[in-house]
This record gives sequence, C-alpha cells and structure tokens, in this order.
Amino acid sequence: MKRILVVFGTRPEAIKMCPLVLALKKTPAFKTVVCVTGQHREMLDQVLGFFKVTPDHDLCVMRERQTLFDITFRVMEGLRGVYGQELPDAVLVHGDTPTTFAAALAAFYMKIPVGHVEAGLRTYDIYAPFPEEFDRQAAGLIAKWHFAPTERARQNLLSEGKDPRAVYITGNTVIDALKLTTGKGFTDDALAWAEGSRMVLLTAHRRENWGGPLERIFRGVRRAVEETPDVKLLFPVHHNPVVRRAAELLRGFERIRLIEPVDVLAFHNYIARCYMILTDSGGIQEEASAFGKPVLVLRDVTERPEGVEAGTLKLVGTEEEAVYQGFLRLLTDRTEYGRMSRAVSPYGDGHACERIVNALLDSFREN
Ligand code: UD1
Ligand code: UDP
Repeated sequence: MKRILVVFGTRPEAIKMCPLVLALKKTPAFKTVVCVTGQHREMLDQVLGFFKVTPDHDLCVMRERQTLFDITFRVMEGLRGVYGQELPDAVLVHGDTPTTFAAALAAFYMKIPVGHVEAGLRTYDIYAPFPEEFDRQAAGLIAKWHFAPTERARQNLLSEGKDPRAVYITGNTVIDALKLTTGKGFTDDALAWAEGSRMVLLTAHRRENWGGPLERIFRGVRRAVEETPDVKLLFPVHHNPVVRRAAELLRGFERIRLIEPVDVLAFHNYIARCYMILTDSGGIQEEASAFGKPVLVLRDVTERPEGVEAGTLKLVGTEEEAVYQGFLRLLTDRTEYGRMSRAVSPYGDGHACERIVNALLDSFREN
C-alpha cells in the first residue's frame, strides 16, 4: 500500500483538495494522510467542516498579519517532522501559495516525490500575481507528476521542458467540488435580502491590490451601484485585516452588504444565483465560467485565459474609472451581458479527482 500525504493550508486549496482527499480515501491501494498547514484558520476550517475531512496533522502556522517569511519558514519547519514521521511515498500539493512552495521544497529536501495539482497556470510575470506565480513555477520545478487542469496549462509545462509523460490533463478539481455543493435548493439570509434584485457578488484580496488599487476598485464599484437602483451587491469580506480596512469604503450603503466569509456551500450557491461577479480571485474565475456568470476580473493579468477566450471573463484592471465603466456597461448593455453569460466549461467535467487517482495508480504500477 502506498502512503499519500496531501498538504494544503488556505481556503481555495482546501476547496480544490478535499474532493481529491475523498477520492484517494476510497482507493484501497492508498493510505491517505492529510496535513493542513493552517496558513488560513477560520476560512480553512469552514471548508474542512463542509467536506468532513479531519486532518491527521495541523501545523497551525497562521499568525495575525503574517508575512511570506513567517509562512514559508513555519511550514518548512513543521513539515520536516511530519514527513519524517509519515515517510510518504508521495506528497500532493496544490496551486500556488507559500504552503505549496514550502511543502514541495521540504519534500524535495527529503527526496519524496511530489504531485502538483493545478499545475501549469502561468502569467510569466513573477510579480503578478505575487507571490503565486513564483510559487507555482517553483512547485513545477520540483514535481514528478504535473496535474494540469487544461490543455493550455499542459502546453505551458511542455514549453518549459517537462517530460510529456509526467504531465496529465485532468480538468480542475474545483469543478468536482461544484458537484458536491450546488443544485440543492439552497437559501439563506443573504439570498433572501437580494431577492427581487440583480445580485452582484464582489470579492477582493490579492496582495498586489492592497492599498491604492483596492480603494480605487471599491470607489468604482460604489459609483456604479449607486446609479443602478435594481442592483444589490454582496461582498463576503476576506479575513485579512488589510482587506477589511479597505472594505470599509463600501459600508453604509443600503444596497451593499458586507458579510463574513461564507462556507463553500453558500458561496457556490451565490454564484449559481447571481447576475454577475467582480473579483480578483483565481478560483472564482473558474467557478463562474462553469455557470456562465460574467466576471469582471479586477486584475491586469490572468493565468486563466481559457475563460477570457470563452467570453465569460473580462480583465478590467484596478483603475476606478475602468471598473466603474466596465461594471456599468455590463449592467446596462444587454448584448454585452448576453455575450458574456453563455455557460462554458473550459476547466473540466467534474472528473479531475478520478483522473489524478488513476494517474498515480498507473505510475506506481509501472515503477
Ligand atoms: C492567501 C494566498 C493567496 C490566496 C488566498 C486565498 C499567499 C501569499 N496568498 O492570501 O494566494 O489567493 O490566500 O484566500 O499565500 N486571516 C485570518 N483568518 C483566515 C485567513 C486569513 O485571520 O482564515 C488573516 C490573518 O491575519 C493572516 C492574513 O489574513 O495573517 C493573511 O493571510 P495569508 O494566507 O497570508 O494571505 P491571504 O491574503 O489570505
Ligand atoms: N469562497 C468561499 N466563501 C467566500 C468567498 C469565496 O467559500 O466567502 C470560495 C470560492 O468559491 C472559491 C474560493 O473560495 O472556491 C476562492 O478563494 P479566494 O478568492 O480566497 O482565493 P483564490 O482562488 O484567489 O486563490
């Protein structure tokens, strides 16, 4: 029996790794061990609770206003002990956070093979998004197995010289997660509040948007909402204190509601029900595409070009005027809205976890 150690630490990693943990646990050839770094706390625990995944190890690294140094150092230190105790045959990491990077590096130092889930996303600018582009490229350097969500991601990896036999197109596991969260007739207070209006979802948290960009975004958003009486804006505010302070710019408006981060069940159902989305998030770009919900991406670059090509995503950047104009246009121009609201699924068919499990089984059989 092969020992698979799955490591993750933030909310989006958990949403995309929990379905894989469940699939691995159903596979008799594997003994699956879960280690969370706790880079996030409340936001991570919400996801673990929904998927009923109980970690075997929790490094509890989160600190108020933690730095990239803090996370990287504490994760490396903690994993050294966990890897030494568990002696895994493979470590699986996800995406592009310092948890991902440090977990991959610690495995490399101990010569444990690494599988990288959501491999091959690239902007090729290591400062955008920061530090995620570096983290995923570095994890790619170390990984033995690259689980690429799309053909585009596979091409990125091949152009970097990765062995084609080590790159698997799997789809994104977030689409697997959507199958477990949506379509259940969900309702709650926030949806009841938005009933009868066009509900717009907003999220923002990226490090490169801290400070001026977040403030400009929020001003642009506020102006467009003020001018459109049938719109209600719902903003689950990330726990990061930097984001919380900037979000105050949107408080005190009748048709704008700031709420605590909601669990994944609620958020996926908000996406399913909303009119459109404004976000700088990575994962939400993929989820929205699956539902055909137009997204204005509050960034200058995206590593998710498939959604832009399919027409669901549009980059608007972070300037107040561009956000205001882009948002207002989607609210008033029905042709533009119709063009962007066709459901497409460039990010997978909901069977990514199965493909990852099978790729690992085949690989272990061959060696
Ligand atoms: C991190 C990731 C980012 C990912 C995002 C998803 C890094 C550098 N960034 O950004 O790639 O898109 O998660 O949300 O890894 N906090 C809490 N409770 C929580 C979570 C965060 O209080 O459950 C607060 C803490 O004060 C913490 C701060 O938020 O210090 C920042 O958390 P951190 O993980 O460093 O950065 P994020 O902005 O969450
Ligand atoms: N999400 C959630 N609750 C919220 C806001 C977002 O569960 O209140 C989910 C969302 O569905 C997506 C993920 O969190 O799967 C995105 O996380 P985030 O934007 O923090 O990170 P990113 O994807 O940018 O790394």
